[in-house]
Amino acid sequence: MITKTMQNAINKQINAELWSAYLYLAMSMDAEAKALKGIANWFFVQWLEEQDHARIFQNYMNSSGAKVILLPIDKVDSEWKNPLDMFKQTLKHEKEVTEMINELVRMAMNEGDFATLSRLQWFVDEQVEEEENANDLVDDFSRAGNDFGTILELDSKLAEREYSKPEILK
Ligand code: FEO
Repeated sequence: MITKTMQNAINKQINAELWSAYLYLAMSMDAEAKALKGIANWFFVQWLEEQDHARIFQNYMNSSGAKVILLPIDKVDSEWKNPLDMFKQTLKHEKEVTEMINELVRMAMNEGDFATLSRLQWFVDEQVEEEENANDLVDDFSRAGNDFGTILELDSKLAEREYSKPEILK
């Protein structure tokens, strides 16, 4: 049984995951509009993955007999200066999400809620990957600077990213 406090916290986390999805979709659309198709693809995959994150929490709540309450999704920006700006915001945002997950872990530990703790472990691991990916791309685009040729090379590389459904949702 998940406590009411934990249910509220997970509902907020579901909202944060959906907001993340919305943010990355906005970045994907901005990249599309600027003919950066690889970057648009990378963020489109990110938008799908964030919806998966929300889905994993939703499934957990449903399995535990708790009700998912969908909260309003805040507005997101629609334009970024350049790809580096997008990836810097991605990294900053992922660090904030990591902190939110860590806070849920602390709450579950305080409550002795081992089932939630076990589910959260997936997110703890996922956040390491999320931050690493964003960090690598900040490095790549920082090195590229204003060299449009290098930016286009990176764009082609990001076109290769493919979505795959996580095992936990199969
Ligand atoms: Fe759901 Fe990118 O963290």
